[in-house]
Amino acid sequence: MKIRTLSKIAAFITAASLIMTSCGSKQESQYAYEDSAPSLAEAFKDHFRVGAAINSWDISDPNSNQYKTIVKQFNTLVMENESKPDHLHPAEDRYDFDAFDKFVDFCVEHDITPRGHCLVWHSQVPGWMFKDGNKDASAELLLERMKEHITTVVTRYKGKVKSWDVCNEVIGDDGQLRFSDWSRIVGDYDGDGDKYDFIEEAFRAAREADPDARLMINDYSIESSTDKAIRMYNAVKQMLSEDVPIDGIGFQMHIGKGQSPEGLKECFDILKRLRDIKPDLVFEVTELDVNCYGWGQEKKDVELTDEFLEEFNKTYTDTYKVLLELADEGILDSVIMWGLHDGVSWLNDGHQNYPMLIDKDLKLKEAAYEVMDLA
Ligand code: XIL
Repeated sequence: MKIRTLSKIAAFITAASLIMTSCGSKQESQYAYEDSAPSLAEAFKDHFRVGAAINSWDISDPNSNQYKTIVKQFNTLVMENESKPDHLHPAEDRYDFDAFDKFVDFCVEHDITPRGHCLVWHSQVPGWMFKDGNKDASAELLLERMKEHITTVVTRYKGKVKSWDVCNEVIGDDGQLRFSDWSRIVGDYDGDGDKYDFIEEAFRAAREADPDARLMINDYSIESSTDKAIRMYNAVKQMLSEDVPIDGIGFQMHIGKGQSPEGLKECFDILKRLRDIKPDLVFEVTELDVNCYGWGQEKKDVELTDEFLEEFNKTYTDTYKVLLELADEGILDSVIMWGLHDGVSWLNDGHQNYPMLIDKDLKLKEAAYEVMDLA
């Protein structure tokens, strides 16, 4: 029986009992936090974990609807900003673990798998890392600081945070290794002809700190640009040949409305070939959302016409079909949305977007029911 139908029956029973007990009015049970609403995590439990990026204030009040939604809908979580290097390590001699500690404790308490995002990135990294007084830090100093950061953070959450985005967005928009303070300062440190050295050292430090954690290289557009997927393939292949402990590829999947499933498959197929080299390589979808507008083409308000909604729902169902296939092949085991609901999405930048499966009132969208029906 379809999830939508089941939830309507549940809603009907709830409403009927409300009428019987308090003569309350009949209500549709569509809020993501309601007992009678279906759960995304539950619907996909035989395929992959389902998660969201959240913030500390979402889990500060157990009576809030955000809190209840999170506990009900997700079985894996990541912090949207509070586990990034600039938040965790604002000064060389100072760490701020408060928010991330509470987040990890919350996950452990609710049997939710926490992810760590992210250890090395060109953005949201504190400026002091790259400086030595007024001049640039040397390659040695930068590597030393990077390793100290990774060792401290990963050791603290050893055995609890199961999966780390060790390096985020290291491939640039031109498909080359991104030019950043990391690649610029560290460069070809070991003299072997490539400039992946900061990445290699980051993965080695993370492995040493927690041998059982899953170590991921995470990036955007590797699910939609074959050029970028090929570049990622070559980079990971090269590093695996040097025994760099990369366990998997994180696909951010900030996709656009209308994203073709064939395009997704083509990119996944390119990166799947890494399994010829490392058979147990895994994929995770780490930041899924569906941007309803092209970059720079946003409108002030979303017009939810039938045509718009049809294309939006189809983008989600097409995408989830591809993800379910990957899960059934044993390659993919988690799908995480970048945000809890439309109202708090990072894509609402001066305008309204409509990217998530849960709307700004915390109601499950039609697209949520449609993807659950696929499972
Ligand atoms: C974004 C957050 O959502 C914003 O709140 C913040 O201002 C900037 O970063 N890729 C990533 C995420 O890896 O860390 C980014 O998160 C979104 C794009």
